Amino acid sequence: ADPEVSRDLARKMLLVGDNGEDLKLEYLKILIDGQLPPRSPRKKVLVVGAGVAGLTVAGLLKRAGHEVVVIEANGNRVGGRVKTFRGVFTDPALHAEAGAMRLPDFHPLVLALADQLKLKRRLFYNADVAPGAEPTGSTPPVVYQSFTGMQWRNGPDAPGFTAPAATNRTLIRVNGSTTTRSRYASAPAAVNATFGVDSTQTTTAAVNQVLAPVTVPGGPIADQIDGWSKLLQKYDGYSTHRFLVEEAGWSLDQIQAAGTLENLTSRLHYSLIPTLMDHAAISPTGRYWELTGGTATLTDALAEPLRNDLRMGRRMTRLVQTAGGVRVETTAETGSESGFTGRPVAPTETFEGDYAIVTIPFSALRFCQVEPLMSYPKRRAVNELHYDSATKVLLEFRTRFWEQGAGGFTGGGCVSDSPSRFSYFPSHAPDGSKGGVVLAAYTWSDDAMRWDSLTDGERYAFALNDLEALFGPVVRREFTGTGATQSWARARYALGEAVVFTPGQLHELHAAGRTVEGRVHFAGEHTSLKPAWIEGALESAVRTFLEVHGRP
Ligand code: FAD
Ligand code: ARG
Repeated sequence: ADPEVSRDLARKMLLVGDNGEDLKLEYLKILIDGQLPPRSPRKKVLVVGAGVAGLTVAGLLKRAGHEVVVIEANGNRVGGRVKTFRGVFTDPALHAEAGAMRLPDFHPLVLALADQLKLKRRLFYNADVAPGAEPTGSTPPVVYQSFTGMQWRNGPDAPGFTAPAATNRTLIRVNGSTTTRSRYASAPAAVNATFGVDSTQTTTAAVNQVLAPVTVPGGPIADQIDGWSKLLQKYDGYSTHRFLVEEAGWSLDQIQAAGTLENLTSRLHYSLIPTLMDHAAISPTGRYWELTGGTATLTDALAEPLRNDLRMGRRMTRLVQTAGGVRVETTAETGSESGFTGRPVAPTETFEGDYAIVTIPFSALRFCQVEPLMSYPKRRAVNELHYDSATKVLLEFRTRFWEQGAGGFTGGGCVSDSPSRFSYFPSHAPDGSKGGVVLAAYTWSDDAMRWDSLTDGERYAFALNDLEALFGPVVRREFTGTGATQSWARARYALGEAVVFTPGQLHELHAAGRTVEGRVHFAGEHTSLKPAWIEGALESAVRTFLEVHGRP
């Protein structure tokens, strides 16, 4: 890989600007503190897509005095890959997430944005806690420590805030037998042996150990840039599998054990870099938040001030640039498979503006005509950037049976080698309800594609079987008969979960994904270096706001 490209990627990943400034700090000041750069000539901007990125950049442009039109394919909701199932369960008090559910403590833009919009947040337990356990003290502010030495915060300290301790009572069921996470942690050898692995180390510890040499420590920003440049240069071309075999010297049995228990199987064929990113972002010991009313309260709140600027049920089919402006042609939402006549579809509505910001996934842009042709590197990025599959199967229960008895727990997740793979439990008791919705199956990649072939009813039936294998007959007794399921690869306006780079793509495609094409700018999680996270979509929104509005 070209070392110059590696270095550029490292700077972008660490959000170091051209003059060494901290872009994260700049973005916090703009998005949260409302320190907008001085007015620039009023522009009419077409924002395509009303997900996190589109709503955020449109809101910023509007606050800065520009005219915006937000064009959204979906006819009945904004939010895109932020989607909360509400009003679909038997108990109206219950909701559950089809997409984004957990907000890492080290993602300041999304947390501070939620606070600014006065949305309540509470802990999301990636690892289970004792039933009914609550943190002590009040919710702490968002604090961002910049590499420049400056600190950004949105409130005074909340001393005494402590999260409840993990109890690790959630289950592991592999190779035909079941144990708890705490039993596995205290005596790993038995479960490891079922994979043919002779080791007294948990797979969590083994993965931590094997990734430690490819982890860049904190410290001066110049050293971090150097560290990441070297890592990216060497390992972007490695699949996770190749790294584990060639660099770590792991046996097939070790790969299968860690693959099964640590959700690595679904990532073996991807570049090592997204595995490193996920490893840093999703851990049993990290702190996470969730929005009390559901993640969609965020996108609902972002959409509120834009209600007169939103054009719903308008799918962009064609994007034309002229010397003086842009034109977006759209068709009306037709409903799923209907309407094919074989004749060309006439646009329903056409929008004109000075600039466009395209925030739709590249997998969706792939189906739009763009004239004149975009640059060759951009077209390659649009055509080739890899989108992962992710599928969720949610089941509603009358009572929270998993909280009962000596082994009861709240939150966290079980892992199994059944098709369901990972099951997550609600972190909090829903107000005024004895019931709860379990994310019975949360799968990625090939694990997800298996579910995508099934009907919704089949998904509920198989997910229920897998949960019964973990908890026994109580599962079937307490099931209300209602579920909800979401396949992101089969979602017409998402066309995939999110970008997960295959080997080499970071160097080959990332930079081109975010470059400006004439009057057209590109935002969305896929143009960020935090793909598959709301934080990345937000970074891209502020970046494109500055591109269009102008930097001070
Ligand atoms: P989108 O939300 O996809 O927005 C694009 C919008 O464009 C959509 O509204 C779409 O309908 C619209 N559109 C598409 N095509 C057209 C067209 N032709 N014309 C007009 N409009 C169009 N992030 C976290 O931070 N925490 C998590 O726990 C988390 N978990 C996730 C779990 C899953 C299963 C998934 C799928 C994502 C998860 N994410 C998570 C990632 C997060 O949801 C995304 O990064 C973020 O929502 C992406 O926002 P976006 O604006 O870039 O794209
Ligand atoms: N951000 C998402 C989550 O918290 C998924 C990130 C990784 N996705 C993947 N296919 N590896 O669950």
